[in-house]
Amino acid sequence: MSRREASFVCQNCGAAYGRWQGKCDACGEWNTIADENTGIASPRVPGRRPRKGRLFALEPLSGEAREAPRLGSGIAEFDRVTGGGFVRGSVLLLGGEPGIGKSTLLIQVAATLATAGHSTVYISGEEAIAQVRLRADRLGLAKAAVGLAAETSVEDIIATLAEKKPPRLLVIDSIQTMWTDAVEAAPGTVTQVRGSAQALIRFAKASGAAIILVGHVTKDGQIAGPRVVEHMVDAVLSFEGEGSQQFRILRAVKNRFGPTDEIGVFEMTGLGLREIANPSELFLSERDLGSPGTAVFAGIEGSRPLLVEIQALVAPTSLGTPRRAVVGWDQSRLSMILAVLEAHCGIRLSGHDVYLNIAGGLRIQEPAADLAAAAALVSSFANAPLPPDAVYFGEISLSGAIRPVAQAATRAKEAQKLGFHRAIIPEAGNNDACGDAGLTLEPVGSLARLVASIANRSKQDGAHRGIEAGRHTMRAG
Ligand code: TYD
Ligand code: MG
Repeated sequence: MSRREASFVCQNCGAAYGRWQGKCDACGEWNTIADENTGIASPRVPGRRPRKGRLFALEPLSGEAREAPRLGSGIAEFDRVTGGGFVRGSVLLLGGEPGIGKSTLLIQVAATLATAGHSTVYISGEEAIAQVRLRADRLGLAKAAVGLAAETSVEDIIATLAEKKPPRLLVIDSIQTMWTDAVEAAPGTVTQVRGSAQALIRFAKASGAAIILVGHVTKDGQIAGPRVVEHMVDAVLSFEGEGSQQFRILRAVKNRFGPTDEIGVFEMTGLGLREIANPSELFLSERDLGSPGTAVFAGIEGSRPLLVEIQALVAPTSLGTPRRAVVGWDQSRLSMILAVLEAHCGIRLSGHDVYLNIAGGLRIQEPAADLAAAAALVSSFANAPLPPDAVYFGEISLSGAIRPVAQAATRAKEAQKLGFHRAIIPEAGNNDACGDAGLTLEPVGSLARLVASIANRSKQDGAHRGIEAGRHTMRAG
């Protein structure tokens, strides 16, 4: 038997090479290239004549365009993230770490749709039928008319489903377990994942069924293997959360039919995932009132305001190089704020370890969190608790000025709704609308001004490790 031309594919990014090498040039990863013998390498299939292309008509850009009809899942937090439900013939990739609750979420979605009278099929490639049944039973969903199977052959699945009227929703749990005859690579390789996904996507487009593919994610947050599927599917959702905590956040990473900045918030309970309609309450529920180093940030996630607690710990270091650790926020933004505190506020942190954490396992991307983060840092440093009834928002510029942020009124209203009385906000910008929320507004123009007011609190409280305690000179004003 003649050996085919070998094809070496990076298991991380999917780049193909003619021969093996230790490092992938495309993504820079080491030891990720494996021989997959793809079979796509030979462009000409022997014994088959090249086909002449079929002619088709070109259409003008203007013309009838109908809004894609949607099938709501019946789970509002899920629909918020997809942009209003499933589009016919669309394919969605749901990524997340093992054990985060993907199967639980999808069996709930499938059961809700089935109960509403839509045909749904759930294919498990990982668990036996009995296991899926057990879970459904525990969730009280055993009566829902979901078609269930434990299969991994894509050809078998498509043949079975094409036999009858195709389902409205097909769940494939997970894409890593699927394999297709069309490619020769071993199951679980990037080539198999890509081939299987291609076949399923073709089936979705041809039949009009909406498909959800489950993809397991590696520790560094990349969808392993399915990375190569990301650009083929219509939407990529990621399901996140801290293993130890009950919150789960569903986020759209890519969405051809909707927004990508919306989040859906769930809580993992003994009876499956529960929707959290008002996440601010949840993220603030275990607040440690009156201790230094915590500030509440009034943020916006997608179209929804969200209040979260930012926690900071600034402590003298025992190492040569002080530690800077941040969870849930951008490391470089933390460095920037520390630099501004040092340059414009006279707070020297080179001898201190700095830790910053967003409570509840949330991840924040807004620059508007700068002010709250800085307030938490200074509060911890000065050992002065911040007022417990205050929220913070505002962007910090390199000059130390506080810049206005979008949707100030929405943020203030949410804070008022949750029982806060004060908002520390940027001085610049239009604060009239903000005042309508009924909060006491405390505009600050510069970071130095904020530091001065926190230092004042620390003096009043008689805290001993104040900013003014000798070593540090204040240039606030
Ligand atoms: P699962 O959906 O199997 O995760 P994934 O498919 O992402 O790997 O969820 C597994 C975890 O969820 C497991 O640790 C148990 C927990 N769980 C609950 O806490 N409550 C429940 O009702 C269910 C079904 C699971
Ligand atoms: Mg699972």
